[in-house]
Amino acid sequence: INFLVDKSRGEIIDTLLDGLQRLEYRGYDSAGIAVDGDNKGESIIVKCPGKVKVLRQKIADSDFDKNLVFDNHVGIAHTRWATHGQPMVQNCHPHRSDPTGEFVVVHNGIITNYAALRKLLLSKGFKFESETDTECIAKLFKHIYDSNLKEGFEVDFNELTKQVLYELEGSYGLLVKSVHYPGEACGTRKGSPLLVGVKTEKKLKVDFVDVEFPESNAESPLLQHGANGQDLGLLPVAPGDLRTSQSRAFLSEDNIPMPIEFFFSSDPASVIQHTKKVLFLEDDDIAHIYDGELHIHRASSKNAGESGVRPIQTLEMELNEIMKGPYKHFMQKEIFEQPDSAFNTMRGRIDFENFVVTLGGLKQWLTTIRRCRRIIMIACGTSYHSCLATRSIFEELTEIPVSVELASDFLDRKSPVFRDDTCVFVSQSGETADSILALQYCLERGALTVGIVNSVGSSMSRQTHCGVHINAGPEIGVASTKAYTSQYIALVMFALSLSNDSISRTPRHKEIIQGLQKIPEQIKEVLKLEEKIKDLCNSTLNEQKSLLLLGRGYQFATALEGALKIKEISYMHSEGVLAGELKHGVLALVDDKLPIIAFATRDSLFPKVMSAIEQVIARDGRPIVICNQGDAIVANDKVNTTLEVPQTVDCLQGLLNVIPLQLISYWLAVNRGIDVDFPRNLAKSVTVE
Ligand code: G6P
Repeated sequence: INFLVDKSRGEIIDTLLDGLQRLEYRGYDSAGIAVDGDNKGESIIVKCPGKVKVLRQKIADSDFDKNLVFDNHVGIAHTRWATHGQPMVQNCHPHRSDPTGEFVVVHNGIITNYAALRKLLLSKGFKFESETDTECIAKLFKHIYDSNLKEGFEVDFNELTKQVLYELEGSYGLLVKSVHYPGEACGTRKGSPLLVGVKTEKKLKVDFVDVEFPESNAESPLLQHGANGQDLGLLPVAPGDLRTSQSRAFLSEDNIPMPIEFFFSSDPASVIQHTKKVLFLEDDDIAHIYDGELHIHRASSKNAGESGVRPIQTLEMELNEIMKGPYKHFMQKEIFEQPDSAFNTMRGRIDFENFVVTLGGLKQWLTTIRRCRRIIMIACGTSYHSCLATRSIFEELTEIPVSVELASDFLDRKSPVFRDDTCVFVSQSGETADSILALQYCLERGALTVGIVNSVGSSMSRQTHCGVHINAGPEIGVASTKAYTSQYIALVMFALSLSNDSISRTPRHKEIIQGLQKIPEQIKEVLKLEEKIKDLCNSTLNEQKSLLLLGRGYQFATALEGALKIKEISYMHSEGVLAGELKHGVLALVDDKLPIIAFATRDSLFPKVMSAIEQVIARDGRPIVICNQGDAIVANDKVNTTLEVPQTVDCLQGLLNVIPLQLISYWLAVNRGIDVDFPRNLAKSVTVE
């Protein structure tokens, strides 16, 4: 949003597109912008699936005037990573309220009550252009604006936004522009980040101003001093025009920094090239920009009396660092994102009060799946391990036999598949060639196919009959981490929803759902082990050539996944061993040197795992044991050390136990100087057989 400076539409578009380009590292599948039309406030919207450069070309090919100069302009832009609706032009943002675009919005997050809103708006005569949840927001703005008008009220943009937010459930980082409020914009957030960057220019000749502090601090203008002394000093908005509430601002005669442009963004990476001065909005803030002023309001009466003052901070980081946050690598960032990604997988799908799981993409198919002869889970790599990890809870809850297949082996064997089989395809990318070939094979044989996929709009999510998006967010590190835990959760939810109607299973359901509710917090606990793990990687595990991981029952999958992580990233040989098989061969490898990690968290197989650990100790092995917090039986002087994790329900324990292994593989690789995000010879998405 710029004002008091003349800029051509072309320059504004470049600013928007450059900002989007800075977000490319996050992964996205489509992009779009809205800029002012020839009449004030009107919007020109250009959007398309694909990369920002495709959008750039589309804009270059459009015949609107790029040289038209504005002294006050609002443009918005978005890169979309699909959650509702495939990446196609209708589903790209910005979305509009009506064909003339009275209200135009971009949105990050998920509106969980969008189905009810859509129904309501359809009944009011609105026609939807997309399958997205976001479009409801644009239409809701128009609906509420018109309703106000009918009642004879002319509400300001901030008040209108408040009224719209009142109707929304879910999470959002939201920007709106409107033909009814030319030169203005509103940005608001709840559970999704949003910041405001302020670009200033030094102006001369400004009068001394001293205005009273506002009586209520529920609303406040931009020009507050930064709480950390990092303020911009004096930030009048329009000298001589300080009509609104203003903190005491002492302006001298020269060198006054004047805001000339405001940037809303979900990510500092896209504004840092323009300014390092930013305000981070908080949940329920509505930031309203007009007449070159920024006012922060609180969204509802519940927030009355809360301060709307946000300190202006100076970004110290360089661009590259910002993209990875405080982390050195995407893999580390993704490991630490797991409390959020795990939560996002469950968001809007589990009713924690009534213990009900609802997966929209499967709802209509549940009866058919319940009647199937067997379930075959098919995947590769880490995704295969998430199937192994959840097979047992599937069989327990559904009483349907489940087999788990590696896609390549399944095809090699030309395994028989029947019309009454349900084939579940699990994939982060949704593009893995072996899995897609297996999917085609199953489709040809008339089986029902289900996709458990992270990438919306991927081949697998399009070609399966039904499915669940795991909503883990883009995963960039080649070694899969947060996608594993989210696939695991999605599969558990799938099993729960298949057995929702079984009364005899209600107590078990309740136990698992209560367990799931706590998982994000418990993951945070496990992540605190990082320092201890770093030490372990610098001592016991340093310079080792090989590593064994012992697990059984639910923890066999964790052992396999842990071994895969270590191989992929640190290039160290590692093997996941079924603890019950130890005495049938692997025991021959055990001596006082070979590092061994054993999973001994409390479940029904705990005594058997302890007996395997004893067998290792009897051969001079000194295993590292992953156990539950404070488990004195395990933490004795015969083991090398313990990595203690919180206890959860047996079928969910693998979600917590895998995290120390992700961290071990990461720190082993860092110690060896390996490019963690791009290990040699491996690809994030293997699109060849
Ligand atoms: C590659 C990746 C792994 C991934 C596997 C399956 O090997 O490096 O991290 O687990 O493919 O990929 P998918 O996208 O189908 O989950």
